[in-house]
Amino acid sequence: MKCVDDFRLRLGKHELVPIMVGGMGVDISTVALSLEAARLGGIGHISDAMVPTVTDRRFNTKFVKDKLKQYKFNVENADKSVVKFDLDILAEATRLHVGSAMDAKKGDGLIFINCMEKLTMNAPKETLRVRMQTAMDAGIDGITLAAGLHLGSFSLIEDHPRFRDVKLGIIVSSLRALQLFLKKSSRTGRLPDYVVVEGPLAGGHLGFGMDWAQYDLATIVAEIRAWMQAEQLDIPLIPAGGIFTGSDAVGFLENGAGAVQVATRFTVTRECGLPEKVQQEYFKATEDDIEVNQLSPTGYPMRMIKSCPAIGDGIRPNCEAYGYLLDANGSCSYIQAYNREVAAHPGERRIKVMDKTCLCTHMRNFDCWTCGQYTYRLKDTTRRNEDGSYQILSAEHVFKDYQFSKDGKVALPD
Ligand SMILES: Cc1cc2nc3c(=O)[nH]c(=O)nc-3n(C[C@H](O)[C@H](O)[C@H](O)COP(=O)(O)O)c2cc1C
Repeated sequence: MKCVDDFRLRLGKHELVPIMVGGMGVDISTVALSLEAARLGGIGHISDAMVPTVTDRRFNTKFVKDKLKQYKFNVENADKSVVKFDLDILAEATRLHVGSAMDAKKGDGLIFINCMEKLTMNAPKETLRVRMQTAMDAGIDGITLAAGLHLGSFSLIEDHPRFRDVKLGIIVSSLRALQLFLKKSSRTGRLPDYVVVEGPLAGGHLGFGMDWAQYDLATIVAEIRAWMQAEQLDIPLIPAGGIFTGSDAVGFLENGAGAVQVATRFTVTRECGLPEKVQQEYFKATEDDIEVNQLSPTGYPMRMIKSCPAIGDGIRPNCEAYGYLLDANGSCSYIQAYNREVAAHPGERRIKVMDKTCLCTHMRNFDCWTCGQYTYRLKDTTRRNEDGSYQILSAEHVFKDYQFSKDGKVALPD
């Protein structure tokens, strides 16, 4: 019986423990979590979601306050198209965020950044270009393209001196998405260094419709693998979504995967950004407490714990301070949903918005409890404290459990 440690992922000159901790915005996969994954010889991710907001919290910068001051005149206005990100400030925040990770990195592993195309920021191309280029300037080891098809993303960075040296990968949920990406990117003369294949049990946004339950990760991976072999493409495949034990991971590695990407198990670690109160909610969740809904303004289905404060909350859109999901026309489907409810309930102080959520505000405040399907199994990965709460784990414990466990077992903490 094998364990994950019997395998290695080769990426260029690097030989890695084949465990990649997936990106979790907004600052759920923290710098601290990514550092642990790298120290232990695997790959960690930071996220590029709402970085100016994250640096304010981590480094006492005042990016959000300054942006709100600049656009305060527009707060009552339903049209948010004037609210723009200053690209120099976005670069400064990214430099701080990525630089703090790379300066502190120890060990043989790597730190990548998860870049979401759906983070459109009222100027999709310009802001994505700045986020990716600045991350490369700041020494990031790799960029994982997420939440979108990224048909033009390689072109946005092809002039960067590190374009051929930085590791570049993409997350796909179907062969079709991968084929489209490769076709569109081929003119840059560069293939991705790895492909994350994310199935329907993952956390965050899903690359499936509301019929997600009809899909299965192993089947999608096998289909992509067969096509890549036929095309003689030798790119490591990294399955993700519902890989809960070391043995689950070994199953994929024995079938030719280069590594696995995992996230849910790390949401209840000390290094993860979720506040402990929220982590206890993740531990307590039962299978019935978890749903896939369409509340995200991105248009992608998202998995959440049903009792989270974000669901149904009718907060006023906060785009002057945040505005990360404003599309190229400066609009967001939450704004429309909110305005509709305000018009339908004149004079009411607290309205409810049931069909969309203000994702920026709620992710910023850790009130949108997005999660993987197997969150309901987290309670079986730890011990109870005397007061009934669950013991928070260390990232090292979870990482090593994936690396060394056999027989479908999960090691409990000491
Ligand atoms: C709390 C949470 C937040 C996530 N946020 C993101 C994200 O911002 N971008 C992204 O590409 N994937 C995101 N994901 C997906 C993970 O990176 C990963 O691919 C997936 O959850 C792996 O499946 P597992 O959680 O069952 O291990 C998130 C997952 C979780 C659990």
